[in-house]
Amino acid sequence: MGNHPARSVCRRSVQFRVAGGGGRTGERVGCVTRADLDKQPHEVAEMFDGVAERYDLTNTVLSFGQDRGWRRATRAALALRPGERVLDVGAGTGISTEELGRSGAFAVGADLSTGMLLAGRRARPRVPLVAGDALRLPFADETFDAVTISFALRNVVDVEGALRELGRVTRPGGRLVVCEFSHPVNAPFRTVYMGYVMRSLPAVARSVSSNPDAYVYLAESIRAWPDQPALAGRIAAAGPWSRVGWRNLTGGIVALHRATKA
Ligand SMILES: C[S@@+](CC[C@H](N)C(=O)[O-])C[C@H]1O[C@@H](n2cnc3c(N)ncnc32)[C@H](O)[C@@H]1O
Repeated sequence: MGNHPARSVCRRSVQFRVAGGGGRTGERVGCVTRADLDKQPHEVAEMFDGVAERYDLTNTVLSFGQDRGWRRATRAALALRPGERVLDVGAGTGISTEELGRSGAFAVGADLSTGMLLAGRRARPRVPLVAGDALRLPFADETFDAVTISFALRNVVDVEGALRELGRVTRPGGRLVVCEFSHPVNAPFRTVYMGYVMRSLPAVARSVSSNPDAYVYLAESIRAWPDQPALAGRIAAAGPWSRVGWRNLTGGIVALHRATKA
């Protein structure tokens, strides 16, 4: 997510494993810094390996069950038809891929984290999941009618690179939907929500998740993510995508950005 200056953005002390890359090695106890948000792919994969076992449950608890509606809205925004091919990048345990399959399209998920993929294979053995990096997808050019990425673009180290790669595997005229946490549009609600994200979310995660410290990173990454117009601009600037628009869900807690392959 760009090159942020290494400044502290939290007040509480957390144990956060930082393994290799960029001169950061070993186990470290301290505050999550902006530099920590610029994770290398293997660091991101390791973090999700650590939350994989209870990922689906944690998500539903932390979102008060809203995640189900957000996934249904993502499927609807993709306007999938039976027999079409759709790729779900950053599919994790396949929970988002499974929802896409309900359209009758052939849905395949790809993810970096073997922990998430293995948890997904156990929970949903019928959902096709493959190992793959959003920046180097293991598919030929123009394979898919539609591509989507849910709650994962925020974790990719090179957002524009991922948007270009998603475009590469999409046929001309194909659709993109990015489902991602965003910025509530109502200012008082935004203040309350950000309080929940930064304070309550890591606290609740401590009682549910197998790796609660990861949720400190996730909370900070939500805060640092661009708002709706800024993300639309980045999608349009990435190259392959035209007719970019968005729709807010739950007051803008989540936004669905849609685009068409030029
Ligand atoms: C918050 S989970 C979202 C999972 C699922 N899409 C959902 O809606 O619940 C984010 C996922 O993105 C994956 N991810 C992060 N960076 C990635 C990359 N560069 N390529 C592929 N997957 C990536 C992580 O491993 C993780 O499983």
